[in-house]
Amino acid sequence: MEDLLPAIQITLPTKGALDPYGLFSPQPRAIWLEIGFGGGEHLAAQALRHPDVGFLGAEAFVNGIASLLDHIERENLSNIRVFPEDARLLLDVLPVASINRCFVLFPDPWPKARHAARRFIGPENIPQLARVMRADAELHLATDDAKLADWMVEYMNASTEFAPRLKPSAQPPADWVPTRYEQKALKAGRKPVYFSYQRKGESL
Ligand SMILES: C[S@@+](CC[C@H](N)C(=O)[O-])C[C@H]1O[C@@H](n2cnc3c(N)ncnc32)[C@H](O)[C@@H]1O
Repeated sequence: MEDLLPAIQITLPTKGALDPYGLFSPQPRAIWLEIGFGGGEHLAAQALRHPDVGFLGAEAFVNGIASLLDHIERENLSNIRVFPEDARLLLDVLPVASINRCFVLFPDPWPKARHAARRFIGPENIPQLARVMRADAELHLATDDAKLADWMVEYMNASTEFAPRLKPSAQPPADWVPTRYEQKALKAGRKPVYFSYQRKGESL
């Protein structure tokens, strides 16, 4: 945390937008964002698979950040930058149409109705995701909570800026990379559901 994090930590600009391409050298061909990366297993595995992509990871849980740093060091990954705070602050400063793919995998379900506003995929954050995602960019979603799945589908389908890409399925997509939370859910006998959306609009 003391040595590696400062070298790859994303610092918010005091004014204006953050150019995500400027965080990497050489410049990546695309920018992918993972929100709530947990222990970072998925983020690190994606970064290893796609060395020409620049990855932004947001996670506020300090043990999760430490775990990601361990993966980065072990795999010698140079294409991940970390935002160790609330992902919404990062979304606020990313430029319009700057993200080519986004992952929100097994977000906290916040099952109680009075906490529904805290569910990440919902009426407040979907417009922000739409703002930062390029036309045709994919938003990959998964959850093991059936009610949350219904909630996310309801709000995503209500958005005029996203079109369904892969309908909710018990089968992960072909290129799926497992997450730590998913493995725990499967071991406990819960049934994850996987789905994705595509940002509408003209390809840039
Ligand atoms: C249930 S865990 C899933 C972690 C990981 N995606 C996985 O599948 O193993 C949800 C994670 O999202 C993180 N999280 C929730 N809201 C967040 C936010 N606004 N910004 C960044 N991380 C957030 C939590 O700290 C937690 O680690």
